[in-house]
Amino acid sequence: MEKFKLHSGDEMPLFGLGTWKSPENMVYDAIREAIRLGYRHIDCARIYGNEAVIGRALNDAFSEGDVERKEMWITSKLWNTHHDPDDAQEAIQTTLNDLQLNYLDLYLIHWPVLLKKEKPQEGESHFLPISSIPLTTTWKKMQDIRNQGLTRNIGVSNFNTKVLNEIIDATGEIPSVNQVESQPYLQHNLLKKYCDNKGILITAYCPLGNGNKSEKEGFENTPHLFLDPTLNAIAENHDATPAQIMIRWAVQRGTSVIPKSTNAGRLAENLNAMNIQLSDQEMKDISGLEKGFRYINGDVWCKGNSPYTLEQLWGEY
Ligand SMILES: NC(=O)c1ccc[n+]([C@@H]2O[C@H](COP(=O)([O-])OP(=O)(O)OC[C@H]3O[C@@H](n4cnc5c(N)ncnc54)[C@H](OP(=O)(O)O)[C@@H]3O)[C@@H](O)[C@H]2O)c1
Repeated sequence: MEKFKLHSGDEMPLFGLGTWKSPENMVYDAIREAIRLGYRHIDCARIYGNEAVIGRALNDAFSEGDVERKEMWITSKLWNTHHDPDDAQEAIQTTLNDLQLNYLDLYLIHWPVLLKKEKPQEGESHFLPISSIPLTTTWKKMQDIRNQGLTRNIGVSNFNTKVLNEIIDATGEIPSVNQVESQPYLQHNLLKKYCDNKGILITAYCPLGNGNKSEKEGFENTPHLFLDPTLNAIAENHDATPAQIMIRWAVQRGTSVIPKSTNAGRLAENLNAMNIQLSDQEMKDISGLEKGFRYINGDVWCKGNSPYTLEQLWGEY
């Protein structure tokens, strides 16, 4: 399994398993099966609501000898309601308790967005402006959490270069990882260049465009990555599926990738993508598919009287 050496010297497996929307009644079996197949990296978050079940699966995998803790890479994330330093301390403790772990390999600030912890009164906004807990304060708390030994590495998610620069300038510490949506229709070439220069690993979320989103009600106009002719032609060349090509492309261009599945066949299919080698021409052809299309467009953070805008979230500087 290919790995990337982070600033700490730790080596993060480039291929892993996503767990967003992995239902509680399916995620236990998915994690056990993934580990048996050879997955060594699991991407979690407290907001996904399934960390306690994932913790049971990990604990059983360790105690039944499927794998050792030190062979696994476990990531989790700090939610938007818990940026205040006291809340962040409580959040990581809860995540560690739920996952039944003493430490994480990587802890990320999930979004550069703040939400009130308490449910807002009727008519009241549940957003808080980012100035009420500056990201530099949260990043310093992340450093403290790492220094306490609760996580080995710290990073961010959904950060553009402006907010990355802000926290780096204030603290001198460069995040190890920036987890962002990335798939053939959203390649983040500018952000990737910036991160490559700073030794920040990009982790590609939604690497399959969130699955068959265009088949869901309300998303009929969403481009269907699985039907893309270029991806299908390359897949045919390798006797592979378009999903495998998207996953392999992500790793070969030097990002890490975390496709989600709770289906045993697709878990194996996705891992087997690591056996594919795409040619330079095939990599180039996939580069040509860029269209700046987001499956997770972040408008949920910019609705109503929100102080956040899409330009602020995704602007490239
Ligand atoms: N940091 C963030 O803000 C953020 C945001 C979004 C996601 N993430 C992380 O990134 C992970 C991946 O993103 P995602 O879950 O949104 O989308 P994704 O991995 O692009 O797509 C997952 C969907 O594709 C299906 N699928 C998986 N393998 C397949 C295959 N080989 N062929 C056909 N369909 C396949 C899955 O269904 P089955 O389960 O039925 O196979 C599921 O519906 C998340 O789970 C989460 O861990 C992070």
